[in-house]
Amino acid sequence: SAEELDHRIRAAKAELGDRAVVLGHFYQRDEVIQYADYVGDSFQLANAAKARTEAEAIIFCGVHFMAETADLLSGPDQAVILPNLAAGCSMADMADIDQVEECWEQLMEVYGGEVPGADGRLPVIPVTYMNSSAAIKGFVGRHGGIVCTSSNASTVLEWAFERGQRVLFFPDQHLGRNTAKAMGISLEEMPMWNPRQVLGGNDEQTLQDAKVVLWHGFCSVHKRFTTAQIEQARTEHPGVRVIVHPECPMPVVDAADESGSTDYIRKAIEGATEPTTFAIGTEINLVQRLAAQHPEHTIFCLDPVVCPCSTMYRIHPGYLAWALESLLAGEVINRITVGEDVAQPARLALERMLAAKP
Ligand code: 13P
Ligand code: SF4
Repeated sequence: SAEELDHRIRAAKAELGDRAVVLGHFYQRDEVIQYADYVGDSFQLANAAKARTEAEAIIFCGVHFMAETADLLSGPDQAVILPNLAAGCSMADMADIDQVEECWEQLMEVYGGEVPGADGRLPVIPVTYMNSSAAIKGFVGRHGGIVCTSSNASTVLEWAFERGQRVLFFPDQHLGRNTAKAMGISLEEMPMWNPRQVLGGNDEQTLQDAKVVLWHGFCSVHKRFTTAQIEQARTEHPGVRVIVHPECPMPVVDAADESGSTDYIRKAIEGATEPTTFAIGTEINLVQRLAAQHPEHTIFCLDPVVCPCSTMYRIHPGYLAWALESLLAGEVINRITVGEDVAQPARLALERMLAAKP
């Protein structure tokens, strides 16, 4: 029963004390979040993993790429545990390392290799969204590139343009497009790369003129949000404040009042001093939690059909109990480790992000 499970988790956590730390992403359900020692967005959780040097195990209630990142940034003797190994991310899976390497080879032919131009900048800098495999982060690190999250994407793109004439951005086309557009880059300068076509489906001139080459990936949760939902919210709730995550399609971000990472959304609501109606375009577990925490405001999800991230949802309290009790029994289950050949360049790409200041 849920009660029994709750008792087991609390007992195991108490007995483990500082030996284990539980990290929870904002999109985790409340049944899991209640046990998290630290809750945050993907950037904050990466920093938390880096800071938790005393714990022997980091139990990551989130998805696979986040656990990999925690392994890259945590101490060498710390074990990172993903309670359910099936908790992946469909967007991260859309950038396959073989396809990315093939893309890079074709781009290098068009751009004449990794040779700086007259202005000292390389022809293209690869930038990967945190939501990607460690292999992709390693690729980026090996080619002078950097990682970004939804909370620092414009800072990171500026970093990249100081070093490169162009950016290859993956996997999320929407975050790439929304961020580049806000920097004044035109849609014509942002061709999309379809890995199933030669030159990604572009001609050479388009790639030469490009500022940002966008990979074709997307988030299946955030692509559901529409401008029609925003129009409806504005009709039904005059004065509503619409905030969406930048993984939403460009027309949705343009129609919203604001866009930002999960933590941006949380802070915007916490910072509102007057009772406000908020229509939010992001994962339902976060929206419902914020609504419960802020009865002084009216907070609802733009999508009337409840849309949890199905892979985040795969972390069930039962798996958390299993991970904690195994640790007590001296066994580490579901450990996520990144091989050293990939880890070194991937860490480099992550450290560049952590060092890039807005
Ligand atoms: P944040 O970087 O805002 O935490 O988002 C992570 C994510 O997976 C969004 O879909
Ligand atoms: Fe991946 Fe989207 Fe789920 Fe985030 S919400 S973990 S991007 S599928």
